[in-house]
Amino acid sequence: MSNSNSNQMWGGRFAAGPDAIMEAINASIGFDKRMAAQDIAGSRAHAAMLAKVGILTDNEAGAIQEGLLAILSEIETGKFEFSTALEDIHMNVEARLKEIVGEPAGRLHTARSRNDQVATDFRLWVRDQLDAAETGLLALVHALLGQAEAGADWVMPGFTHLQTAQPVTWGHHMMAYVEMFTRDLSRVRDARKRMNESPLGAAALAGTGFKIDRDMTADALGFDAPMANSLDAVSARDFALEFLNVASISAMHLSRFAEELVIWSSAQFRFVQLSDRFSTGSSIMPQKKNPDAAELIRAKIGRIFGANVALMMVMKGLPLAYSKDMQEDKEQVFDAADNWMLALAAMEGMVKDMAANTDALEAAAASGFSTATDLADWLVRETNLPFREAHHVTGALVAMAESKGCDLPDLTLEDMQSVNKEITADIFDVLGVHNSVASRQSYGGTAPSQVRAQIARWKEILA
Ligand code: ARG
Repeated sequence: MSNSNSNQMWGGRFAAGPDAIMEAINASIGFDKRMAAQDIAGSRAHAAMLAKVGILTDNEAGAIQEGLLAILSEIETGKFEFSTALEDIHMNVEARLKEIVGEPAGRLHTARSRNDQVATDFRLWVRDQLDAAETGLLALVHALLGQAEAGADWVMPGFTHLQTAQPVTWGHHMMAYVEMFTRDLSRVRDARKRMNESPLGAAALAGTGFKIDRDMTADALGFDAPMANSLDAVSARDFALEFLNVASISAMHLSRFAEELVIWSSAQFRFVQLSDRFSTGSSIMPQKKNPDAAELIRAKIGRIFGANVALMMVMKGLPLAYSKDMQEDKEQVFDAADNWMLALAAMEGMVKDMAANTDALEAAAASGFSTATDLADWLVRETNLPFREAHHVTGALVAMAESKGCDLPDLTLEDMQSVNKEITADIFDVLGVHNSVASRQSYGGTAPSQVRAQIARWKEILA
């Protein structure tokens, strides 16, 4: 039998145990214990299948099932003792099962390898996270819809180059993020559908000579089908990469919105008041209220995209099938998932709580010659001027207002007519910000009626 220091799982071939450094670089239990519930679910499905095809007796399978449930409760209650010497979650569970049920535990690994086991566990774990992301995204979208509904007709400046461009509505701005986060949602659902196939039964890499039933285990674990190629089943990690891709894009969206909240909550903008629940104070400057949650959300893209790049680098150039390199997949995904979920929840909370300062929004919307395009459009519509010329006339009026230190609506009719004599007093109607936004009725435009139509459309889709 095996040397007493060598590994109980493969000690037959080994005379000595591993060097301490070897143990340190090799062990994954420190992090893969997070997949304990998935590992036990996979083993239970495998045991039930082995019993059905006659590889385990019903008694053996029953003992294994009970043992696995006992281990699960030990882990959940913090009583389980994880051992680094046992390397990973799979061997920790199996060793404990042997202590609890004895000999049948050794039969559980029939027609299975840690290679298909870890691929299965990790798919189940990532699938759970996709479901959590779906929940988080939906909650955020509902918070945004609430803000959009409240402020469908509040006017604010719309920006390009962060320079005042044209007035838009608050609801329109919120709904832009609804579009982004619902696209993230559809990417999440897409990724889930593609990854929901079972590696279990691929064994080490080549399949097995035992007459197993892969449909049965796939079904028991909620997978749509068993994976069709055993080499691919044990070595594919594109499901984890796709998770990181989707998380990266979503974190990028969160980051853009977070940046806007940082700007909007500044004393210079005063567009929004963030709630105390999502801000911090300064230990030295008593007046400060810092948008820390927004800043941290803005930063999360760094580590999430970092995880994405790291796993791409781990996977590139790996020959088929399994290589130990793949053990490096988990920490990246765990960290990215934790931080994505946290960022989604923090953003939802901030959006729900934030109070728009409608006076400041409207004042800002009305400054910076924001209705210059409306003026040019009026000249095209009412005096049949080609748009390029109307643009020129309007530019001259903006320059005049600038030199007088006022905005466009403050110019007199005489001022206007000195630049273009066909201008009439009607022009003042389009220079107001409310008329400006109300006129933008094109599909997807900023008019409150369009915004309300989009809110209604999304509410119906999400109902
Ligand atoms: N801890 C390993 C991992 O996370 C499990 C698979 C080990 N397989 C092997 N052939 N050594 O990838």
